[in-house]
Amino acid sequence: LRTVFLGPPGAGKGTQAPLLSEYFKACHLSTGDILRSHVKQGTELGKQAKEIMDKGGLVSDEIMVNIIKDELENNVTCKNGFILDGFPRTVPQAQKLDEMLTARNTPLETALELEIDDSLLVSRITGRLIHPASGRSYHTEFNPPKIEMTDDVTGEPLVRRSDDNVEALTKRLATYHSQTAPIAAFYKFQNKWRGIDAAKKPDEVSVRIMESLPSNT
Ligand code: AP5
Ligand code: ZN
Repeated sequence: LRTVFLGPPGAGKGTQAPLLSEYFKACHLSTGDILRSHVKQGTELGKQAKEIMDKGGLVSDEIMVNIIKDELENNVTCKNGFILDGFPRTVPQAQKLDEMLTARNTPLETALELEIDDSLLVSRITGRLIHPASGRSYHTEFNPPKIEMTDDVTGEPLVRRSDDNVEALTKRLATYHSQTAPIAAFYKFQNKWRGIDAAKKPDEVSVRIMESLPSNT
């Protein structure tokens, strides 16, 4: 499977991508998770990225393209395919990804857009809890962990993301509509775009995703 997830903050990219990744034995690359791990490790990139992420802006295309290029070339778990979550996020990133995949003879199969109205995203974002090491996300109300504030798998504590507040979300949404939403037209032109109703319950969203994937994967 070779696919990308498009969709606004809180649409469910990070909830659905790990399920597909497990099913298809393909890697799940979340550029947000990769940047957050840099922040946690205190790298130079992490320091720059934290400021940008907390303001709801975008890290430069050049940096992000290099991160994905490096992962696709060197991450052995991507050999069977990949699910990109949070990348591409601008039309130039989508163009670079195309060039990269064409050169490797592994073209993208589909672009899945999780479609949802902005009004539903505030409650999803403000209730989110994450397990930083794995990127697993929970929700205080919609998907609570078995034990309060604790990861189901590792038993480690859950935290809130520093950009999960209404002010940063408003900026992330504005950035999404101006910079990321235009990517849909790019993939529609290539006949690779599939829209998914992301306002449904998580398992219903999963079913729609499976139905919209190419049958030969
Ligand atoms: P990133 O981490 O990608 O954040 P985002 O795009 O804002 O998306 P989210 O992670 O907030 O949403 P999601 O769709 O994954 O939702 P989730 O499944 O967790 O990026 C962060 C920042 O990094 C960016 O702002 C930018 O600065 C930078 N960055 C990253 N990539 C970049 C790039 N390529 N170029 C430049 N900069 C980049 O779900 C949300 C909540 O809802 C959870 O609590 C979940 O449990 C719940 N939920 C999920 N599905 C459902 C459902 N169906 N019903 C009810 N609740 C649900
Ligand atoms: Zn995410």
